[in-house]
Amino acid sequence: MKLFTTISEMQNYLLSQRAEGKSIGFVPTMGALHQGHLTLVNRSHTENDLTACSIFVNPIQFNNREDLEKYPRTLNSDAKLLEAHGCDVLFAPEAAEMYPENETPFLDIEFGMLDKVMEGKFRPGHFRGVAIVVKRLFDIVQPSRAYFGKKDFQQLAIINHMVKSLSIPVEIIPCDTVREPDGLAMSSRNMRLTITERNLAPKIYEILLNVKNSVGKIPVPELREWAIKKIEEDPALKVEYFEIGDKDSLMPIVHWNHKQQAMAFTAVLLGNVRLIDNVELFS
Ligand code: PAJ
Repeated sequence: MKLFTTISEMQNYLLSQRAEGKSIGFVPTMGALHQGHLTLVNRSHTENDLTACSIFVNPIQFNNREDLEKYPRTLNSDAKLLEAHGCDVLFAPEAAEMYPENETPFLDIEFGMLDKVMEGKFRPGHFRGVAIVVKRLFDIVQPSRAYFGKKDFQQLAIINHMVKSLSIPVEIIPCDTVREPDGLAMSSRNMRLTITERNLAPKIYEILLNVKNSVGKIPVPELREWAIKKIEEDPALKVEYFEIGDKDSLMPIVHWNHKQQAMAFTAVLLGNVRLIDNVELFS
């Protein structure tokens, strides 16, 4: 596996590979890799001639300094894992390489309500930061396909919207959420949970599944209230939001409608670790 830290090295290498007619699969990450990330890499490896990954803890998508500083950085072990899972080239730039000092990162795009609800409401500016970095990475890598996890479902909606609005010639491939055996969605933040918190964390998915089983049986607002109460039964868990919304618009749903594809989304604070998860309610 090749490792590049500068944009020009990465571009030159991929230019030569594209000239040979190779398709390029791309998996952008912030590192601290787990099986969730590696599933995306495996899938890219099977569907493309060449797989490129990036590891970049993108400062402009963090609206909390402590979260940025505490974000785990494990480049050496990540590189080994990537190589073992079929990654051909890793791009791991420093912040100054992605954001030259004299330049203000900017993206002329409107997201409508997609960046205002749920994560967008609690993390203002977060999705614009994500979109800016992903656009830059797409410009550098120019992938045929790019792989994103449904674990960050709203992020996936933002990326799909950006690709459509800017007519970027890339196929976005959504990948299912990978979970621990007890149901907890894998996340780089899970390693910050204490043992007690880690034992409580599967409750989030458990309640999401309970909600799924109650679709059409309990009115939406009541079910939502029930879910929040149930999660917060343990005082260590604090619900930031719990929403039942449409799969495409992400807007809240008030009544069950069998034609509408509903999803449940939640963000929960467990100690000082913020966990997000979602489930499709229609399958
Ligand atoms: P990061 O949190 O490192 O995630 C990288 C990719 O892995 C994202 O597409 C995310 O949805 C996916 N992923 C994470 N956990 C997963 C799981 N348990 N199952 C399936 N996929 C999972 O998301 C980001 O980084 C950044 O915002 C990024 C897109 C790289 C832009 O900075």
